[in-house]
Amino acid sequence: MKIVSIVGARPQFIKCAPLSREIRKRHQEIIVHTGQHYDPEMSEIFFEELDIPKPGYHLGVGSGSHAGQTAKILERTETVLLSEHPDIVVIYGDTNSTLAGALAASKLQIPIAHVEAGLRSFDRTMPEEINRVVADHLSSFLFCPTTTAVSNLHLEGISKGVCLVGDVMNDALFFNRQVAETRSDILDRLGITRSRYLVLTVHRPSNTDNKNHLAEILRSVSKAGLPVVFPVHPRTRKNLDKYGLLDCLPENLLCIDPVGYLDMISLMAHADKILTDSGGVQKEAYLLGIPCITLRENTEWIETVADGWNILVGADSGKIISAIESFSPDTPQRDVFGPPGASKRICEILDCIISD
Ligand code: UD1
Ligand code: UDP
Repeated sequence: MKIVSIVGARPQFIKCAPLSREIRKRHQEIIVHTGQHYDPEMSEIFFEELDIPKPGYHLGVGSGSHAGQTAKILERTETVLLSEHPDIVVIYGDTNSTLAGALAASKLQIPIAHVEAGLRSFDRTMPEEINRVVADHLSSFLFCPTTTAVSNLHLEGISKGVCLVGDVMNDALFFNRQVAETRSDILDRLGITRSRYLVLTVHRPSNTDNKNHLAEILRSVSKAGLPVVFPVHPRTRKNLDKYGLLDCLPENLLCIDPVGYLDMISLMAHADKILTDSGGVQKEAYLLGIPCITLRENTEWIETVADGWNILVGADSGKIISAIESFSPDTPQRDVFGPPGASKRICEILDCIISD
């Protein structure tokens, strides 16, 4: 079977790594990198560290407005699909690369497999929510990480092709955790001590495109009484600069460039707590058993909240400070993402499709 996998943003490289490894055992895979993320530390580093095969196509779309970026990916992906004639297109997650990939494939009547299908925050102010809904409704095979995702699809009338497989990010973490322990020396490089620092990541428009929210978050972490390691997403750095906040950063904040996956695992695994608005980081905090303070009003990973290991605080400084001081889960985790092996399960299902 000939499979085209479409990726373009940081979390998609991480999701693609374990599945690509499985796919290539039995099928021909062509990776299409849309170029949505392009800085070396947002893209290349993941291909190198995770041994992801070199993309067959790099569409070089770069940044732009939602419509502009999506349109460029759509047009350039169509050209690739017309020349490659794949049997199936694999899309990941909920970015503009996911949406455009889904549109291009569906118009050419190429079946789509959506990895991380069925997630919903029920917040259509998030661009990702729109991307998820459209991608799911255009997909033939919907690989869900959780039972909640399966239920969300059923509520929208989608049941055909829905498969509960677990989470491919669990595979990525499982595969790389030990490697990170031996290869990453980021704690030494930053001069920080295990369990005596926090990790912060912020990149959602709801936080980064709002000066007050960004300033509130920074003010809150300044009260932490611990160093706060902050790998800064390029969107966030741009806005910190625009709002004049780069000149008045708290002294305990260690602002660094985005880090590779191995350094990120190491930072997260040894943190006292993690503060984030990232989807992937919420899951990884849960899987690593680190309390997560989510800088959003809602989340699509509600199991982590229900289980008591994630707390939603938005950009409210009172809630953030109180969570830093006292959020301390004391209930055992229920293992809501199940065991690793999602990539293998997805591949087995793809194998059955081809033999039908
Ligand atoms: C995108 C996804 C988001 C995902 C995130 C992962 C959409 C709508 N959003 O958000 O779902 O959680 O990736 O990180 O698809 N930039 C650079 N260098 C880069 C990439 C981006 O400087 O390599 C800057 C540009 O100024 C760009 C901005 O970051 O305009 C935003 O990038 P974009 O890819 O549009 O959205 P993200 O915020 O990264
Ligand atoms: N990540 C990373 N380096 C960083 C920040 C994040 O490797 O500096 C990883 C993180 O561990 C997770 C993924 O990137 O696996 C999450 O991506 P991001 O937060 O950009 O997007 P989201 O998951 O919110 O879509």
